[in-house]
Amino acid sequence: MDYIKLKNTAKEILKKHPGFDPKTAIVLGSGLGSLSEEINVRGQIFYNEIEGMPVSTVDGHKGRFIFGNFMGVPLIIMDGRVHMYEGYEAATAALPIRMLYLFGVENIILTNASGGITYDSGTIMLVEDHISSFVSSPLVGPNDEMIGPRFPDMSNVYNKELSSLLCESAAATGVAVKKGIYCQLTGPNYETPAEVRMLKVLGADAVGMSTAIEAQLAVHCGMKVCALSCITNKAAGLGNPLSHEEVKIMGARMSGDLKRLLRDFIRKIGESYEDTIL
Ligand code: HPA
Repeated sequence: MDYIKLKNTAKEILKKHPGFDPKTAIVLGSGLGSLSEEINVRGQIFYNEIEGMPVSTVDGHKGRFIFGNFMGVPLIIMDGRVHMYEGYEAATAALPIRMLYLFGVENIILTNASGGITYDSGTIMLVEDHISSFVSSPLVGPNDEMIGPRFPDMSNVYNKELSSLLCESAAATGVAVKKGIYCQLTGPNYETPAEVRMLKVLGADAVGMSTAIEAQLAVHCGMKVCALSCITNKAAGLGNPLSHEEVKIMGARMSGDLKRLLRDFIRKIGESYEDTIL
């Protein structure tokens, strides 16, 4: 990745939106895309319009950055992410996260769909920590010290202030949120029941195919991360056989609660900017 080139591209794109200074971004996961309908859109750019950006191919993932205002807060929605199971290296799959950084984003909210190990389907889980040891790091390869350190600390991937603000939003909106550990696997196949038993022993509460590598990349360049996992099904062996269709249907069903939560959360993030707490 040519960092300077990408940085110039980000600058060129933002030039078309004078006065737009987004400090917050949301990454929308499987079936959770309907939030983009609520944003007051100023513009959008598809990944395939940006040289070097990976292009998402999965049904239900559109692959674009939407610029706009949401609850009065300037925001970028990353509508559609790219997954490792599409054949991309971790660094390439997570590259749109670096683009967000270059757009000036400081707070990033990652959302995903996952299989529940500890929790039932329908649960919104605030990610407290992750297990990413089954996928390669997006930081493998030459390190650019302009972006972040060679050996970044991962003791606090999920920002405590953002997480507690999210809990305040949960209380304010009445949307129940549980806390837990998310494990990323490559997919695209769902897990076997034996793998799910293994993940339970390892301390994972939910399993999915994204997010951890994005969080790693975001932490590396100094962004604050908060992640919400929508548990769309019981993980393999703990409930019914799995299908992507059901994941999408459950995701859509949960998106009302998620949106209610995010509306309040984003407003609070915007307010805390005004108070310069975050
Ligand atoms: N496993 C992995 N990824 C998922 C699942 C699952 O059970 N549900 C939604 N995404």
